[in-house]
Amino acid sequence: MVTEGRWDNKGQYAKERIKLYEQIFGEGYISAGGHRTTEQMCLPLQNLKNGARVLDIGSGIGGLAFFLESQFGCNITGVDLCENIFNTAKERAETNRSNVNFLIGDILDMEFPLKSFDVIMSRDTLLHLSETKKRELFKRCIEWLDDNGEIVIGDYCQRPRDEAICKSFKEYIIDREYDLHEPVAYGILLKDTGFKQVKAMDVSSDFLEMLETELDQFRKIHNPRPKHIERRDYDSIEKSWIEKIEWVHSGDMRKGIIYGRKV
Ligand SMILES: C[S@@+](CC[C@H](N)C(=O)[O-])C[C@H]1O[C@@H](n2cnc3c(N)ncnc32)[C@H](O)[C@@H]1O
Repeated sequence: MVTEGRWDNKGQYAKERIKLYEQIFGEGYISAGGHRTTEQMCLPLQNLKNGARVLDIGSGIGGLAFFLESQFGCNITGVDLCENIFNTAKERAETNRSNVNFLIGDILDMEFPLKSFDVIMSRDTLLHLSETKKRELFKRCIEWLDDNGEIVIGDYCQRPRDEAICKSFKEYIIDREYDLHEPVAYGILLKDTGFKQVKAMDVSSDFLEMLETELDQFRKIHNPRPKHIERRDYDSIEKSWIEKIEWVHSGDMRKGIIYGRKV
């Protein structure tokens, strides 16, 4: 059960973990690919311009939001469920004199007026929502988007569900309580809920390259292991990257960027 304010997905988003992730992914990011993934996600969007109203679902510690604000002059609302993460984002907004409006809460409990946004983005977050909740959210996103609105989602994916996946990846999905789809099936989900001009891109080969770079980077920075990082944390981060590389290599784990328009 989600206890608002204290949810950290069994330590996945604990304070110390966030610091470690950021060292690997780059400043402002707690998801694979850091800034490179942001650029990939911005590519299909036509509405990113000065004054565009953007909703970032699962805004984390603000990497994407701060970039959109400084690069395009967008007005960003970021929503995140985890208190540690929200507090960090807020502190950074103050330090950077940023106008990003960070809100804490479950995106499914949020109320926004109809047609409040020109763009909705979400990065490595909807994996936390069940398929039913994803459908519910997409329907609400259509209402929140203005007529010309666009959505782009970057998310972990998997091979088609009717194909077997290896035991360790299966256990990882169960342990994290993720809901993953094959990229094309993810696109169909978006289309089913009413989005138009849907494009589902499988960017697994780029993802693999990013994971390999991140693992190298992690080993470089942390060799020898700094005293403030527990051996246990070091090993678990390293193991989790090695595993992800194996899963992506075998095609079990995939990465998708899914794009759609309101009309
Ligand atoms: C892997 S992190 C990615 C964060 C950020 N998008 C990034 O790329 O750095 C997933 C984020 O989703 C947030 N999250 C998970 N479920 C959520 C929900 N139902 N509503 C809002 N945020 C949620 C988590 O707290 C976490 O910050």
